[in-house]
Amino acid sequence: MKKHHSFYAILIVLMVACAAMMAVAAPSVTERIDNLLLQMTLEEKVGQLNMIAPLDAESREASRADVRNGKVSSYIWFETDAKKRNDYQRDAVEGSRLGIPLLFANDIIHGASVTFPIAPWLAGAFEPELFEKAARVAAEDTAAEGVNMMFSPMCDIARDQRWGRVAESCGEDPFLASLCVAAQVRGIQGTGNWERGTGNGVAACLKHFVGYSAVTGGRDYNESEISRWSLENLHLPPFRAGVDAGALCVMSSFNTYDGVPAAVNRFLLTDILRGELGFSGFVVSDWRGVRETIDWGVSGNAADAARAGLNAGGDMDMTGGCYAEALAEEVKAGRVPMSALDTAVRRVLKAKFRLGLFDNPYVDENAMSRLRAAKDAEWCALAKECAEKSIVLLKNDGILPLRPGYGKIALIGPFGDNENEMRGCWVGHGWDHGVVTLADSLREIYGERLTVVKGCEVLETAATRTLQDGTVVVDEHAGNGERGTGNGERGIDEAVAAAKAADVVIMAIGEHAGWTGENQSRADLSLTGRQQELFDRVSAVAKRKIISVVFSGRALSINKVWDDSSAALSAGQPGTMAGAALADLLTGKAEPTARLAMSIPWGVADCPCFYNAPTTGRPYWGKFRDREENRQGARFPFGFGLGYSTVEYGWPWVYDGKACVNVKNTGKRQTTETVQLYVRQNVCRDGARPVRELRGFKKISLAPGEEKVVDFKLVDDLFAHRNRRGEIVVNNGKYTIFIAHDSKSGNPLVVSR
Ligand code: GLC
Repeated sequence: MKKHHSFYAILIVLMVACAAMMAVAAPSVTERIDNLLLQMTLEEKVGQLNMIAPLDAESREASRADVRNGKVSSYIWFETDAKKRNDYQRDAVEGSRLGIPLLFANDIIHGASVTFPIAPWLAGAFEPELFEKAARVAAEDTAAEGVNMMFSPMCDIARDQRWGRVAESCGEDPFLASLCVAAQVRGIQGTGNWERGTGNGVAACLKHFVGYSAVTGGRDYNESEISRWSLENLHLPPFRAGVDAGALCVMSSFNTYDGVPAAVNRFLLTDILRGELGFSGFVVSDWRGVRETIDWGVSGNAADAARAGLNAGGDMDMTGGCYAEALAEEVKAGRVPMSALDTAVRRVLKAKFRLGLFDNPYVDENAMSRLRAAKDAEWCALAKECAEKSIVLLKNDGILPLRPGYGKIALIGPFGDNENEMRGCWVGHGWDHGVVTLADSLREIYGERLTVVKGCEVLETAATRTLQDGTVVVDEHAGNGERGTGNGERGIDEAVAAAKAADVVIMAIGEHAGWTGENQSRADLSLTGRQQELFDRVSAVAKRKIISVVFSGRALSINKVWDDSSAALSAGQPGTMAGAALADLLTGKAEPTARLAMSIPWGVADCPCFYNAPTTGRPYWGKFRDREENRQGARFPFGFGLGYSTVEYGWPWVYDGKACVNVKNTGKRQTTETVQLYVRQNVCRDGARPVRELRGFKKISLAPGEEKVVDFKLVDDLFAHRNRRGEIVVNNGKYTIFIAHDSKSGNPLVVSR
């Protein structure tokens, strides 16, 4: 008996001890934030809303005093030196009064050290899980440098190919873009439990909120004139998907909506983003976006801008310094409620807690080199898979796939052996990672039978950039491998001679990467430099044996290249493994499966050019007076892409609540077909809906001669749209369904619901 008494006595003591521990359990994140807010001075609160990007070593060093004085919340971190990053972090955590950690952010858009294909082409793989994997690699890679937030995914819907930033988007279709955005958020943020800050320590930042891609004339930084109808049904869906996927941050855009710059637009940043989308993270302006409301003539000075930005729901001021300069005074004067300031600070602190920065503020300074050494081969293999699945075969008269035993091959053009052009625009930290060019890979296959001739430069004059302060500098990443040149010998005669002597010519041509991305709108969608002259001279002697590989950050309208080439591929900016992927595709070791996520227009006059347009009241009129009648719509439409086999679609039918179609491989090679489901609402009293909208897709594999029935359940989502209050509407009535190879083909099936 006695023994039992002591057992129960011990049990009771243990239970009491546990209860006591529970009573003093670690404070919750909310309690820790409340506790900090109570201690923070007005200046320290304002400091938490200040993101800086000192552009040179001297100003970076000088900023450390501001960090120690609690005036800096976050850096846009251009460095790759983890030790330096920890030194700056130590200034905040150990050198400032309250020890609030810094958040380090950077533009990691399509890879950090290993570069993946740019988004419009990776979206064309029609494989969002691939995007997730690539984003995951980029996040792991950049986290090892100590960066805690990536300014991606870019969620803008790209319809105007004149706008350079189509190069960052997931294309022109909101359904596909939404899937790709959500996949990137999952990849970047991982699936850790954010409430306890155990996520993988990197935040996604959805940008640019919202409507930026609709800038007038495709001219960057311009006003955007969009309606609530297109806001709800075209521009918001990818942001909804990103918010639903748990993105921690949203970046406001440079453009106006309804006349008001997004950085100070309360309707967008509060009513829509928080009220309608339910976003609970923090909002950061785009670069100087708050201060630039003065340039817009919407704010009179920094105080106006700071007040407008915070009252609109803009929590953090990126590099504009308006909040740092004027917000405290606005609060003291009662023009900004302290409660509004506290709300913004709370959101920022919550993000830092959820990123684990309070409990683990430092990064292992050897992590990056260790990780890259261990993972580089795996990352490059993924980059190659992404490139293979994103390069689109547009034309092939049978010259492809190349037989390994081919005689003499001439690789002509300034993109054939050019690492920088393969990396593309917005290269994170990929400058230091080698790139496999097309010449590298073809040499391995064809050895001495390969002749490589540049023919001309990517640009005929050195590319320059204009910095924020107006100074003009040579673009160090321009030119052709040699940084900063652009002038170089013109070897067009040499190229023509090589073409004459070859059995087949591979042209590697395109658009200079330095002319793509931000602040790179173009009035013409042509090849850059003298490349068209090069192509014309070569094709004059090598007709019917030219394969053109076109590298670009946007859809180019180069009809003579498409017409005169025996085969043509749109390669985008394929990244680190460009050459390896292209060589496998050209020789048939890999099957071309990619599709266009961005329409290719006949000409710049067609911009903005996209498939998901309404019929208009006169669908057969409204053409250009000075153009051939048949050049309407896109030269190559959204969803288009060829393989090395041929595929036929039957007529769709409905069975058991599903739309079905027969798909047959009528060629001689195994193929992968991306079967696309499009829907049109025949009559919609809410507003004119597009002639087609992508609402589903399935990638299927077909052996030669094999046919499969592919079906899509007719669920409400297929037919839904949003009204002008952002509510989902599913009307009854007639809909036309297409299950097709691309957005222009397929047989119609009318269904009623
Ligand atoms: C740039 C871009 C934005 C980028 C930010 C930080 O101006 O608009 O996409 O993330 O500034 O570099």
